[in-house]
Amino acid sequence: MTAEVLDALRPKPGGRYADGTIGGGGHAASILSASTPDGWLYGCDRDGAAVEAAQQRLAAAFAGRFEIRRGDFADLAGWIPAAGCDGVLLDLGVSSPQLEFPERGFSFQQDGPLDMRMDTRQALTAAELVNGAGPDELAKIFWEYGGERESRRLARALARDRTGRKFETTRQLAEWIERLSPRRGRKTHPATRIFQALRIAVNNEMGSLKRGLAAAPAILKPGGRLAVITFHSLEDRVVKEFGRERTCAYTVPGGVDVPELRQPRIPEMRWVTRKAIRPGEVELQDNPRSRSAQLRVLEKLG
Ligand SMILES: C[S@@+](CC[C@H](N)C(=O)[O-])C[C@H]1O[C@@H](n2cnc3c(N)ncnc32)[C@H](O)[C@@H]1O
Repeated sequence: MTAEVLDALRPKPGGRYADGTIGGGGHAASILSASTPDGWLYGCDRDGAAVEAAQQRLAAAFAGRFEIRRGDFADLAGWIPAAGCDGVLLDLGVSSPQLEFPERGFSFQQDGPLDMRMDTRQALTAAELVNGAGPDELAKIFWEYGGERESRRLARALARDRTGRKFETTRQLAEWIERLSPRRGRKTHPATRIFQALRIAVNNEMGSLKRGLAAAPAILKPGGRLAVITFHSLEDRVVKEFGRERTCAYTVPGGVDVPELRQPRIPEMRWVTRKAIRPGEVELQDNPRSRSAQLRVLEKLG
């Protein structure tokens, strides 16, 4: 959604931008190119391989115009100057290299270790959750992060079947799920929801997203924009809720919205577009993974 991101952030010479999910540096390169000759980019990713790839890609054309750090975008306000940015981008989810390298363990299309860590320095892996979490915790993860209707049955069965042997590989888990929950004409593989749920839990994606959104206004200048690309309804709901709260022109004591008790306040942000922006036909053809992408844009008020 590069064109849409550029429309949202309107990079200009001298502008300063933060890309909290720099990945391979695709969006970052477009932002730097559009802000030639002296726009600046702060980049961040939890994934060391992504940081290296982005460094290499940007160094060739934009040397001296960016700083990239490895870390969680939830911590951007810890190193980017307050009110220092004209635009902040969060392009959530996993990158193509993460999905394509079997050893990262994100995909059940290829066999690899049950890993799924975006930041390989962290201790918790998918294998640890699958082999160690209690059935209630697993059911909660499958239901809350995957919307898996059979969450309880699958979690109980997993807790039973892992006693004799450990689940170690993506294929082992995917085949086990398919045996317990056959396709029955469904288009998507029955493991899709469980894999998504485990990935979100391993990387604490919802916690990072909430903290990252909360930190974004602090690093934006007045008039600066926050663009967030989500890939599933759970993420989009968090972004919508954040936007609703920050654009609201009143507060409600005790969190219960009784119209007579509303206290007016000046909102911190405004929605740039009311509706989420979706990828165009050309992008959908070039990149089928963008099918579920939605871009929402907020502007910090002065
Ligand atoms: C969809 S890819 C981004 C692709 C990038 N926009 C590009 O143009 O190449 C998502 C990236 O965000 C990273 N990521 C996800 N959650 C993160 C977080 N909380 N903090 C930092 N990076 C994160 C992932 O490691 C992955 O590299």
